[in-house]
Amino acid sequence: MTQLNPLSVAVVGATGVVGRTMLRVLGERAFPVGEVRLLASARSAGRTVQANGGSVTIGEATPDAFEGVDIALFSAGGDISKALAPEAAARGATVIDNSSAWRMDPNVPLVVSQVNPEDLQDHEGIIANPNCSTMQLAPILMALRDSVGIERVVVDTYQSVSGTGADAIAELEGQIRAHVDGEQKVAAVYPHPIAFNALPEIDVFLENGYTKEEWKIVTESRKILHLPDLRISCTAVRVPVFVSHSEAVHVETIQPVTPDHARRLFGAVPGVIVQDDPSTHEYPLATDAAGRDEVFVGRVRQDRSIPDGRGIAFWVVSDNLRKGAATNAVELAEALVERGWVRARSRREPLVEAPA
Ligand SMILES: NC(=O)c1ccc[n+]([C@@H]2O[C@H](COP(=O)([O-])OP(=O)(O)OC[C@H]3O[C@@H](n4cnc5c(N)ncnc54)[C@H](OP(=O)(O)O)[C@@H]3O)[C@@H](O)[C@H]2O)c1
Repeated sequence: MTQLNPLSVAVVGATGVVGRTMLRVLGERAFPVGEVRLLASARSAGRTVQANGGSVTIGEATPDAFEGVDIALFSAGGDISKALAPEAAARGATVIDNSSAWRMDPNVPLVVSQVNPEDLQDHEGIIANPNCSTMQLAPILMALRDSVGIERVVVDTYQSVSGTGADAIAELEGQIRAHVDGEQKVAAVYPHPIAFNALPEIDVFLENGYTKEEWKIVTESRKILHLPDLRISCTAVRVPVFVSHSEAVHVETIQPVTPDHARRLFGAVPGVIVQDDPSTHEYPLATDAAGRDEVFVGRVRQDRSIPDGRGIAFWVVSDNLRKGAATNAVELAEALVERGWVRARSRREPLVEAPA
């Protein structure tokens, strides 16, 4: 990293599942944090938590709380991001936002660290972190795009309850206990009991029949991969898993691709691990991926419904709280530091031509 001055980092939504993972990831990496400012709602203001090697008091997220902040990591929901990200940016902070509020804004880069980091260059103070399901798929699709080309993608997701937040984790735990105790399962976060179930409804339904989550995977993948016309479809399903999203993916490629070739391509992507040995029952599992930063891929096989060896099918798993949210956000912050792009483009020092 070229800029080693410690930075003032704000974490907005610091009491939430993603915010707490953000603090853990910041603590694990060599990110140059000077001050860490923890922000949440008025309900949490005044509480103290352990962070950055000491005890830090949580403040209320207000516009003035961003004075003097270099990087603000937001994970407090779309409404807070809509209201406060421009306020933070106006005060000179660079926001890396985990909500869907800004992702499809043409002036906001939407970035997966190992796929399109150069898109960060022109940021004007707000950068969007992709949806967790899109995040783990993009590095794999990048490998196929760059070698054999992509004609069409079909992805079905099996998403954990931590993707909904702290209340959903508590709801699954409560329903499992109720089942064991022979009591009725109470559903408040989801429209039906999630324990021992699979719910094909994530986020709201759109007029086109897809859910908003499914449509995010469609539109965000196109933006990140710079493939605006990519043919891609999705069914997103919530399953009773605590952490890590799994995805069954079928890709029709432009050039033929064999499973061995695909495994080599996937394994060459930074942050991607191939786990694929059917003879020993080895394939990516949600429970193994939980707590890890990598994207895991396995069950790679020829999709025989597509002619000429142009079909490839596989299974992708990653921790939705880490690579799907916090780790990618911190990786983007690291990329900004490395490239000297922490400030918004219009606030950076102009480049001075070296004398001839
Ligand atoms: N969970 C995931 O896997 C995941 C992945 C990618 C993106 N995201 C996104 O990250 C965001 C947070 O998700 P989460 O799972 O961490 O949810 P969560 O566990 O429910 O936490 C929500 C956080 O937002 C804060 N908050 C709520 N209302 C606020 C307000 N009016 N002002 C300031 N802070 C407020 C909460 O603070 P209090 O404790 O004070 O209420 C809490 O810190 C969402 O936008 C979500 O879409 C989540």
